[in-house]
Amino acid sequence: MSLQTKYLLDENQMPKFWYNIQADLPKALPAVLHPGTLQPIGPDDLAPLFPMELIMQEVSTEREIEIPEPVRDIYRLWRPAPLYRAHRLEKALGTPAKIFYKYEGVSPAGSHKPNTAIPQAFYNKQAGVKRLTTETGAGQWGTSLSFAGSLFDLEVLVFQVRVSYDQKPYRRAVMETYGARCLPSPSNQTEYGRSVLAQRPDHPGSLGIAISEAVELAVQREDTKYALGSVLNHVLMHQTIIGLEAMEQLQMADAWPDVVVGCTGGGSNFAGIAFPFIGHALRGGKKSRIVAVEPAACPSLTRGKYAYDFGDTGHMTPLTKMHTLGSTFTPPGFHAGGLRYHGMAPLVSHCKELGLLEATAYTQGQCFEAGVTFARAEGIVPAPEANHAVKGAIEEALRCKREGKSETILFNLCGHGHFDMAAYQKYFAGELKDEQYDEKELAMALSGLPSVPEPA
Ligand SMILES: Cc1ncc(COP(=O)(O)O)c(C=O)c1O
Repeated sequence: MSLQTKYLLDENQMPKFWYNIQADLPKALPAVLHPGTLQPIGPDDLAPLFPMELIMQEVSTEREIEIPEPVRDIYRLWRPAPLYRAHRLEKALGTPAKIFYKYEGVSPAGSHKPNTAIPQAFYNKQAGVKRLTTETGAGQWGTSLSFAGSLFDLEVLVFQVRVSYDQKPYRRAVMETYGARCLPSPSNQTEYGRSVLAQRPDHPGSLGIAISEAVELAVQREDTKYALGSVLNHVLMHQTIIGLEAMEQLQMADAWPDVVVGCTGGGSNFAGIAFPFIGHALRGGKKSRIVAVEPAACPSLTRGKYAYDFGDTGHMTPLTKMHTLGSTFTPPGFHAGGLRYHGMAPLVSHCKELGLLEATAYTQGQCFEAGVTFARAEGIVPAPEANHAVKGAIEEALRCKREGKSETILFNLCGHGHFDMAAYQKYFAGELKDEQYDEKELAMALSGLPSVPEPA
């Protein structure tokens, strides 16, 4: 009998709603605070940055939010995305576990990021916005927003973290192909960027700095808003189409995951695959173990503090309660640029505090080794970020082998690594170092956390 490898949905089976986990949480998310007054902010405080539809999604507690038809229409360019059974990886590992992966690298940008770039561009266009500013770490988010901007005729300005701008020149070329402008961050185009460069002219940049630059420019012009590729509630919700599709596809395979694994930078692809399963369990359905995998060199969930902090380094954003390494922490310049963020999505952090998920961290070398094992078995070369999920899934599969258990493992292969081959070359040449973060810098960044009194 032939072994089924791909589980595919028809276009008309694509979900019509995103899933909002806020409807099912046993305890509401802590409020977002104004950094000056330390009082909860309202929708109007966010209006200079985002269109009202997205702000309302940010605070909504409705379980399902309809995906607008024009967004679904564009999603059909690559969605529904395939679910694969990793027969060859299972064989290579000699595990009795069944490994499934949802592949988001089939999008035009090569990752999950267009799942939120398209609706964000749609709602901005609807609100009359002409220009979007944003940051990008790996280049995946900048590419995705540039792609979305080209479809909705919006000007897009991307601040790309310096180290990734230097490592991946072709990412910038793709953004420019879509008509966007891309600048290395820190840049001399913003007051904040100039202040960072004045202190350290060779600063490698960080997502926190690039966010500050993009926000600074967005608030200066009426026709400009800011778009964020991760962290925020509405971004995580847009990504739930991944897990919702996977649920349908696993049923086709007569399977249900014992373990769900995803990598975490700001938390969006992880939430995308995991939240529908967490919600299913919260509503009384079968419970899966949920495992977040992060880089050992930027370990917000496993080493960070759960506290109120700024989302950016220049302190232009409101305060959110999250796992953070401190907003002034600059992670070392490792290759999974999309995971170099000091904080974690408040919703993912809250779920961790509620015991709804586990977190683990691996080094860059361990993750590249796992990515190469995967590529040689399954054929797809994963993005360095996605290698963290691959490593997490392989560890679970090897545990099943040791314990003689035939569990079902689902992981999110959130992007391909076709623009990351320089990093793979370095790995093969033995030049890829396991970068360590500076303990002193971490302690300093954590000691600088804003002081917010606990509510009585
Ligand atoms: C391929 C890929 N995976 C993961 C991430 C991390 O983001 P998130 O945690 O929001 O999914 C990025 C961010 O740029 C990315 O490009």
